[in-house]
Amino acid sequence: MSALAHDAEKSETRVFDLDLVRRDFPILSRTVHNKPLTYLDSAASAQKPQAVIDVIRYQYEHEYANVHRGAYSLSEALTSKYELAREKVRQFINATTDREVVFTKGATEAINLVSATFGRTLEAGDEVVITGLEHHSNIIPWQLLRDQCGIVLKVVPVSDEGDVSLNDVAAALSKKTKLVAVAHISNALGTLLPIKEITAAAHAIGAKVLIDGCQGIAHEPVDVQDLDCDFYAFSGHKLYGPNGIGVLYGKEDMLNAMPPYQGGGEMISNVTFERSEWAELPAKFEAGTPPIVPAVGLGAAIEYISGFDRTDIAAHENDLLVYATEQLQTLNSIRLIGTAEKKAAAVSFVLEGAHPHDLATILDRSGVCVRAGHHCAQPLMDRFGVTATVRASFGMYNTREEVDVLIDALGHAREILC
Ligand code: ALA
Repeated sequence: MSALAHDAEKSETRVFDLDLVRRDFPILSRTVHNKPLTYLDSAASAQKPQAVIDVIRYQYEHEYANVHRGAYSLSEALTSKYELAREKVRQFINATTDREVVFTKGATEAINLVSATFGRTLEAGDEVVITGLEHHSNIIPWQLLRDQCGIVLKVVPVSDEGDVSLNDVAAALSKKTKLVAVAHISNALGTLLPIKEITAAAHAIGAKVLIDGCQGIAHEPVDVQDLDCDFYAFSGHKLYGPNGIGVLYGKEDMLNAMPPYQGGGEMISNVTFERSEWAELPAKFEAGTPPIVPAVGLGAAIEYISGFDRTDIAAHENDLLVYATEQLQTLNSIRLIGTAEKKAAAVSFVLEGAHPHDLATILDRSGVCVRAGHHCAQPLMDRFGVTATVRASFGMYNTREEVDVLIDALGHAREILC
């Protein structure tokens, strides 16, 4: 085992005690409009534990310099923490080597990296398959590619329950399919997709697979070797880490075969005016000064989550999901959008006669933070004949009492709006 791998090894597993977990997140003790904060928007961005906040602060106060460039101890110290963070990511998703872990500024950049590099190897008539519940980040890059080089974009339909069936995915595949790009969990509805089976079906016809793991990474254990996906993209800020940092996992042979994404410092091994050569992975895809402290903060977030048995966190979040769904169903005039059998940590709904934005504004007066809008998934909203929904989403720190606060506040809002 390498020194880095050894440093990143898990320490003892913590018992999942909700009161203690909540105490780890300082922001949860604040008030909003003189009401306790009820934060139900973790799908947009999760709150940060003290351990992450402390690491970020420490780096800027005591140990900050650029990485991979300085021959002095301060730079060397932060370089080794930056690479340790990469090793923590590698372990967290069980990548084979840290050469397969590319730091980006977010999941959106990670997907755009694939469309701009792997995508350049595609030809007119080649097909990319996505689903009807994708986030705009997993639609627009493929539309841009379609407009640039004539690929065909195929969309797998979404059922009335907000689900995507394996049969429909299989029906969309053809000999021309070069890539299947799907969400692990829908950000707007919470639907959990059968990504392992989708990957196997795509591979059976020779297509590659990209998983948009923005929501998935926060709620499901991810083992990229077991999934066998070719790419898995996620951001740090939904995983209790800082924003400004994301990860593209890519199989080593895929990343080696792809041209660089951006040109600049650090991604080269030799430069002349005639021709340049690229650095080894993952530096080849990390042009310029990377998001150094955010990466270290992501490492701290991964260490924090890995301190628990993730099945305990998943069981708690599932209890909140089931409870919230039941409670919402007791309210008149609420229409749930997205009732798939397999879901994780989010409920989306509309209240008849009330615009979601008005509803969210009124809920805020009770200290309740929810997202209202199209959730960057406008085609999915169209599928359900709405322009927007209200979405309550859960993190490891939420409680049943907070669901009760949401339900009470909704009852109050209904009296005002309807
Ligand atoms: N994609 C994030 C969300 O679903 C921002 O809210």
